[in-house]
Amino acid sequence: MKGINNLEIYYLPIPMDIKYTSLIELIDSKKFTIDEIKASYLALLSMLTDAPTLTNREFVNQVFKVSKMGEIRIAYEFDIEKTQLVIIGSGTIIYEPKLIHGGSYAGHIEDIVVHEKYRGMGIALTILQELSDLGKKKGCYKIILDCKSDIEKFYEKNGFEKRGIQMAKYFTANE
Ligand SMILES: CC(C)(COP(=O)(O)OP(=O)(O)OC[C@H]1O[C@@H](n2cnc3c(N)ncnc32)[C@H](O)[C@@H]1OP(=O)(O)O)[C@@H](O)C(=O)NCCC(=O)NCCS
Repeated sequence: MKGINNLEIYYLPIPMDIKYTSLIELIDSKKFTIDEIKASYLALLSMLTDAPTLTNREFVNQVFKVSKMGEIRIAYEFDIEKTQLVIIGSGTIIYEPKLIHGGSYAGHIEDIVVHEKYRGMGIALTILQELSDLGKKKGCYKIILDCKSDIEKFYEKNGFEKRGIQMAKYFTANE
């Protein structure tokens, strides 16, 4: 496109300012309302599984509960065009205290997800690395997670290896 004096104008993409923090720190920072954080976070989780809405109180209580047992790491940015918070990635680690292994911890990684529009940019990799570092710092002797076979390679690239099989028992509301 030509501009003043017939010079070429190039439109550069707006650089992204992605921030990494914990969900509880984002809530505590009061930069955004609970409504904004909840809406953006549940929208992200719905790209992983069912994430029906919660009241603000339920949402904050659940975040506090998880944060006592571990940490929810997030990546977020402020979308300047839409003037809104976008939580673009997340992953959780839970520390399970063990009586074996000298009373150390087993770390459980859960709910790794990156917003569809932000995939392939290394965001999951960064979050996974942060969770591994947290587990190591806490003194976990191992970190484990469940995943579908189509995602195996992603975890293998990040130092995880296949061990055993997963067993699950789900309970329905009327059981
Ligand atoms: C899986 C997921 C979290 C990856 O997020 P992402 O931010 O796009 O991943 P990254 O950009 O950090 O990818 C890091 C590396 O893993 C690779 N990778 C990403 N997704 C992969 C997949 N599904 N299978 C194999 N490799 C994958 C990337 O190619 C990249 O490798 P490279 O560094 O050699 O290029 C994302 O696709 C997602 O949210 N999927 C839906 C939810 C889900 O399945 N979560 C996992 C639950 S166990």
